[in-house]
Amino acid sequence: MLIKEILKQEASAQEITVSGWVRTKRDMKNFAFIELNDGSCFSSIQCIFERVSGSEEGAVKAGREKIIADISTGCSVEVKGTLVRSPSDGQALEVQGRDIVLLGSAENYPLQKKGHSLEFLREIAHLRARTNTIGAVARIRSRLAFAVHNFFQGRGFQYLTTPLITTQDAEGAGAMFQVTTLNLDELAKAGKAPDYTRDFFGKKAFLTVSGQLEGESYAAALSRIYTFGPTFRAERSDTARHLAEFWMIEPEMSFAHLEDDMALAEDFLKYLCSDLLKNCTDDLEFFNTRVQKGLLGTLQNIADSPFARITYTDALHELEKSKQSFEFTPFWGCDLQSEHERFLTEQIAKGPLIVTDYPKEIKAFYMKANEDGKTVRAMDLLVPRLGEIIGGSEREDNLSLLEQRMEALGMDTAPYRWYLDLRRYGSVAHAGFGLGFERLVQYFTGMTNIRDVIPYPRALAYAEF
Ligand code: 4AD
Ligand code: MG
Repeated sequence: MLIKEILKQEASAQEITVSGWVRTKRDMKNFAFIELNDGSCFSSIQCIFERVSGSEEGAVKAGREKIIADISTGCSVEVKGTLVRSPSDGQALEVQGRDIVLLGSAENYPLQKKGHSLEFLREIAHLRARTNTIGAVARIRSRLAFAVHNFFQGRGFQYLTTPLITTQDAEGAGAMFQVTTLNLDELAKAGKAPDYTRDFFGKKAFLTVSGQLEGESYAAALSRIYTFGPTFRAERSDTARHLAEFWMIEPEMSFAHLEDDMALAEDFLKYLCSDLLKNCTDDLEFFNTRVQKGLLGTLQNIADSPFARITYTDALHELEKSKQSFEFTPFWGCDLQSEHERFLTEQIAKGPLIVTDYPKEIKAFYMKANEDGKTVRAMDLLVPRLGEIIGGSEREDNLSLLEQRMEALGMDTAPYRWYLDLRRYGSVAHAGFGLGFERLVQYFTGMTNIRDVIPYPRALAYAEF
């Protein structure tokens, strides 16, 4: 049985077997206390072994004593014993141990009882899930992934997997990792330029920055789809909220406008938040007391209160009229910097904020133009501390307007022919967004660095393990 299941049992003196990794061992004169954790839940279970008196055979006892003496933090063990109500305050149940088997020893185990810094834990990423913090992050990540599927499946969205290798730039931003099987070292030595017609795919290929364009094609057939998969960005941003490899959830809806998109994003976040509050109580309690004080209040607020909304133009007015001195002075047309996003969410909205109708120059080519000719039907969902966690828009569904926009941006439309076809054959109003999964986990746990909410982070100049 997993510890999670054991802790739900009634203490009726039942015999159980429990396995896990030793968090601590305390030797007393009459008893040895072993704290076992198997990662199935936040709590460990206490196993108590009587030392001196007792009715057992001396030989058995001596064998057990020897094992207990050998046990240290990090060892894996199996304990057989009786589940009983605990007389002490720390826990409701404990195991009165009878037999113990040492499965794997742990000499010079790097994780000791004292707290370690998150920086140190990144250096032992293969062991860090055995700590309270990273274990709790892993369980929350898992639960959220499950809730993402539940949310969409319950609303008629079909799960779509999109290719990771692509020959197109879905965001038109050029921050892509190239994929090649050409021997670039050899070519360089021979002083030759690479001939991509001889590359694996017969042309240049990259890792995807978004599954949106393929998502749009399936939304133009199945009406509602969502993707949930890895995404790669070769942005040279070395911050606590950027990864080179992250997971993104991208829903796309046909017969939908920007308002529907905003409503979906808000419902989605509220749903995920409520699900977590219901199903990850112990883990959240830990983050609330040890990582970000007041986190539970923040989460309750996300679940209960409507999200504020503002247009980019009005947001700019707020920034301009504020007494705040910004490092980067805001002006109409500028991309919102993280200091601006923080001001808007932390000082003005005091919570999540949806900003709409951004200038077209700072947004992707596929966004639907507004009548003013200057802005597009974009929406970003900003949150305190982190800034943008969702970016989305209504898409340009008019063929000639989209072609004009791509040409104005100097894009070669040939590779996007199939994408333009969607506007040629049965075009409909449609909208969608992308939620960065790691930013969501950061938001819901209060963790400061994005590298601590993904098992093995890949970031600028960093790809260990
Ligand atoms: O705003 P972005 O670039 O939007 C898109 O990719 C659209 N195709 C989405 C869509 O409309 N279907 O990225 C969406 C989200 C961001 O809001 C952010 O949460 C996350 O992806 N994100 C990153 N997360 C971690 N590290 C990075 N380098 C990220 N870049 C974007
Ligand atoms: Mg964005």
